[in-house]
Amino acid sequence: MDKLVIEGGQALAGEVRVSGAKNAALPILCAALLSPEPLTLSNVPRLNDVRTMQSLLGQMGLRQESAASGAVSLDASRIDWPLAPYELVKTMRASILALGPLLARCGEARVSLPGGCAIGLRPVDQHVKGLQAMGAEIDLTHGYINARAIRLKGTRFAFDVVTVTGTENLMMAATLADGVTTLENAAREPEIVDLARCLIAMGARVSGAGSDRIVIEGVDRLHGATHAIMPDRIETGTFLAATAATGGDVVVNGTDWHALAAVIDKLREAGADIATTESAIRVRGDGRPRAANVRTAPFPAFPTDMQAQFMALVARAEGTSVITETIFENRMMHVQELRRLGADIEVEGNTAVVRGVERLTGANVMATDLRASACLVIAGLVADGETTIDRIYHLDRGYERIEDKLCALGARIRRVQ
Ligand code: UD1
Repeated sequence: MDKLVIEGGQALAGEVRVSGAKNAALPILCAALLSPEPLTLSNVPRLNDVRTMQSLLGQMGLRQESAASGAVSLDASRIDWPLAPYELVKTMRASILALGPLLARCGEARVSLPGGCAIGLRPVDQHVKGLQAMGAEIDLTHGYINARAIRLKGTRFAFDVVTVTGTENLMMAATLADGVTTLENAAREPEIVDLARCLIAMGARVSGAGSDRIVIEGVDRLHGATHAIMPDRIETGTFLAATAATGGDVVVNGTDWHALAAVIDKLREAGADIATTESAIRVRGDGRPRAANVRTAPFPAFPTDMQAQFMALVARAEGTSVITETIFENRMMHVQELRRLGADIEVEGNTAVVRGVERLTGANVMATDLRASACLVIAGLVADGETTIDRIYHLDRGYERIEDKLCALGARIRRVQ
């Protein structure tokens, strides 16, 4: 198993380009299932989660070609097996995104229930309830969701909780339904807007994506299209937090600050100097960060996927920060690892009280999930001495060559086996 060894104390400096967004790429890859004509995607990030999704689609019978440019073409003219097996779903919960498109296109789908997940229970009841409201017959047997519908029917569906992949699943399913579907209390994340853009390019009639009410007028058939995946806002935010934490000066290129406004506000509150242009963000950190309180919530509020990285930043702040996680019930696992580096953090329920310390000191730590890994990388970059992060396969699920990108900014990181 690979580890990262980080020699801390280097301020990041230079320019870095962000990759395509993981959380946009995963649903958009599944959107290929909706049409018998090819979908060609550019700016697809080279990540383990993307590879897992591609093998899942490959098992279903999709043909895929990758161009040297990184563009991926998916041809779903034939779908042999509308099935997402446990072996793949258990490694990546986002496999549930195949459910809606498969059902809409094939009239049947069999998708394993995701099961437990390190950061919380993460049920899929809203996905199931929404499809049932569209007329699907669904039973849960032997750990699988078995769904059938000759043709889904447009309906009005209000989510009980705001769910990102739930909104995406129903939005995709509704594109081929008979009639109009209105999704209320929909998630508003930028990745949903990107998916809607791709669906519209394929001939779908979708309006309101980015608001909490999305209207989809079903059509008989979608056609081929090309689409460029949006930049990854969480990777962007991770570079911003890392630069602020190390007191560096970095320009993050190929990104879009609009998708990150809440994070930028909080980084400024923590003392970072941030300037934005249409497609770049320059961040400068100076001295110790200042304390800042954060409460995660659905977009446009502060994203849960940036909570751990922000905690690494304020672990060294002057003053005390209160960080509250409201999306997932077990997303504080990085705290005990940060403590191993000398951070002073107390957790009660889903609230962490972070008393900033002057310095962190290198130690051996263990990554527990994707964003916790990014948090530990940031902490390692600012800690005195050497930090070794074990189990970085979590990091490879969601960051493309993060150590190469950070080394190009002056960090001292090596990957060892
Ligand atoms: C997506 C993102 C993930 C991010 C999360 C929250 C992808 C591939 N992943 O995950 O990176 O951290 O949004 O922004 O886009 N819930 C239910 N019932 C459901 C569905 C969800 O109760 O049917 C609950 C979950 O347990 C959780 C909350 O709703 O507490 C939000 O989860 P959700 O938005 O669905 O997260 P994901 O879409 O899995």
